Amino acid sequence: SMLEAAHEHDIELEGKDEMSSSGACEGSLACSTCHVIVMDVDYYNKLEDPTDEENDMLDLAFGLTETSRLGCQVI
Ligand code: FES
Repeated sequence: SMLEAAHEHDIELEGKDEMSSSGACEGSLACSTCHVIVMDVDYYNKLEDPTDEENDMLDLAFGLTETSRLGCQVI
């Protein structure tokens, strides 16, 4: 899961209430509650590129960074 991967790869998980606020739309790219910031650039670069849909939703995410992703779309 993303949570396990986050522990393995030192990913900082963004969110009001840790993971409990994440995944409101259950991975259908209709929210941005699963926004994560990948702190490890090497790991970020290994991920598949975000789709246009993911990028559109990321634009709405709070605190967007260069290495932001939607957690439901990776791992
Ligand atoms: Fe909603 Fe990822 S769970 S976009």
